[in-house]
Amino acid sequence: MHVGIIMDGNGRWATRRGLARLIGHKRGATQVKTIVKSCPGLGVDTLTLYAFSTENWKRAAHEVEGLMKLFRGYLSNNLVELHEKNVCVRFLGDPSPLAPDIRDLMENLRRMTRNNTGLQLNVAINYGGRDELVRATRSIATKVQAGEIEISDISEQTLSEHLDTKNQVDPDLIIRTAGEMRLSNFMTWQSAYSEFAFLEESWPEFTPEVFEDTLQNFHSRTRQFGAVIAK
Ligand code: IPE
Ligand code: IPE
Ligand code: MG
Repeated sequence: MHVGIIMDGNGRWATRRGLARLIGHKRGATQVKTIVKSCPGLGVDTLTLYAFSTENWKRAAHEVEGLMKLFRGYLSNNLVELHEKNVCVRFLGDPSPLAPDIRDLMENLRRMTRNNTGLQLNVAINYGGRDELVRATRSIATKVQAGEIEISDISEQTLSEHLDTKNQVDPDLIIRTAGEMRLSNFMTWQSAYSEFAFLEESWPEFTPEVFEDTLQNFHSRTRQFGAVIAK
């Protein structure tokens, strides 16, 4: 199954403890490692982590810089382990505003792990569901202009194939930690039939046990996809 996680609440987790928000983000990065490791045992074969939205640039410069530093650290320190664990990493979002060295690290990790057959890990950095749809629209329009696609042939599948998640199934479950009940521009297209779990725990408190409980709750639900399914 595909699980998407909106990893929210690092800042509040830290503030509640009298710590700087960046300490919360640091704890959040440690949590990422733990949760990624727990996926194979929990039946999760695709995991999408929302790490930085197209709106997060609005934050104070030192927080944005701190987050970028954490991405650098995560990308360079986890390359070998992710590869050894057979994880295939893909990045969602528009990398163009990111620092060139971060883009290189991302590309390196993507290339090194692209043939791995274990967990599919999507990391959404400078990702916005609306931005993704705009980029998809542009690339479809370019193909129409070049005569490669007929307008009448544009279908839901065409759209899906031009998104950052192409060739992947839509998220079955989207989890958001830290109490807010909104998507904040996460997987606008892909979430059409996702189930949702809004948790009180903040991201640093999201342990594999909490993950397992959330998945158990998900498995007890009936998904109808518009049909009527006898219970
Ligand atoms: C982490 O949580 C998510 C990121 C945008 C990196 P927040 O930084 O949004 O934490 P809160 O919501 O302020 O507590
Ligand atoms: C959503 O969290 C983005 C990520 C988790 C990366 P935010 O904290 O940025 O969302 P809002 O601002 O509360 O909607
Ligand atoms: Mg937040």
